[in-house]
Amino acid sequence: MSETAGKTLTVAGVLCGICSVLVAGAVVVLRPQQVINQQLDLKKNILQAAGLFESKETIEEIYSKSVQPVVIDVKTGEIQTDIDPAKFSQDKADRDPQYVEEIPQKEDYGAIKRRSRLQKVYIVKKDGAIDQLIFHVYGKGLWSTMKGFLAVDRDGITIRGFNYYAHGETPGLGGEIENPRWLAQWKGKKIYDDSGDYRPKTKVVKGQVNPQDPNAAYSVDGLSGATLTSNGVEGTFRYWLSDSGYKSFLGKVREGVIQ
Ligand SMILES: Cc1cc2nc3c(=O)[nH]c(=O)nc-3n(C[C@H](O)[C@H](O)[C@H](O)COP(=O)(O)O)c2cc1C
Repeated sequence: MSETAGKTLTVAGVLCGICSVLVAGAVVVLRPQQVINQQLDLKKNILQAAGLFESKETIEEIYSKSVQPVVIDVKTGEIQTDIDPAKFSQDKADRDPQYVEEIPQKEDYGAIKRRSRLQKVYIVKKDGAIDQLIFHVYGKGLWSTMKGFLAVDRDGITIRGFNYYAHGETPGLGGEIENPRWLAQWKGKKIYDDSGDYRPKTKVVKGQVNPQDPNAAYSVDGLSGATLTSNGVEGTFRYWLSDSGYKSFLGKVREGVIQ
């Protein structure tokens, strides 16, 4: 090897070393900020579902004065008062064998296979009383697990708002689940029939909702060219509003047991 080639290799090696130290350093230094940004984004999505994001205040200001997180056991519908929601990690609970339960296939409308019994739920109060409840919901679309927040009125039946914050559906097709115009039609829709047994009734119809349809109050328009994604949205609602999801908790709120 000539002397010039040796020097070139040395310089390249030193440069590589410096660059890798810089990149690794940036990852470590920026990690806490990334976590803060992720948490802020989550709060923004929760506020958006609840229709509370229009205010001029910051996300932190609105969230801290309007939203009270609690951890519930979806099986009993009860708030777990011994668990501090601030210290609770949903990600960890979703992997903890103590809480994770397999979902029988015939009940698994959202095709998620398993879920944690413990779920973080967000209560919005107004003048000291529950005004609305925000639930994390997720289910399989065509390509991805679609994750969103559903805001339900204290009546336990009427949707106050809905949004998706993560999915991998095709832009322009299934990806239209994040279109604000499509999401807006969920507001005011009912999630359960009013016959007394509160069966989940959400429907994402093919095409447009016919106002004469007896199920119109529970239905939203399908996404054109994305029937499989639309079916996934309907399945997600059906699962999370079933006995295996938030139904017990919603019943307790409706009956005034949880205030
Ligand atoms: C490249 C590509 C991307 C697609 N993305 C989606 C999608 O995100 N969601 C979906 O339901 N269908 C998607 N489809 C269409 C499905 O394969 C299927 O044809 C469609 O769901 C049928 O819906 P339709 O009856 O509304 O046409 C995609 C098709 C292609 C070729």
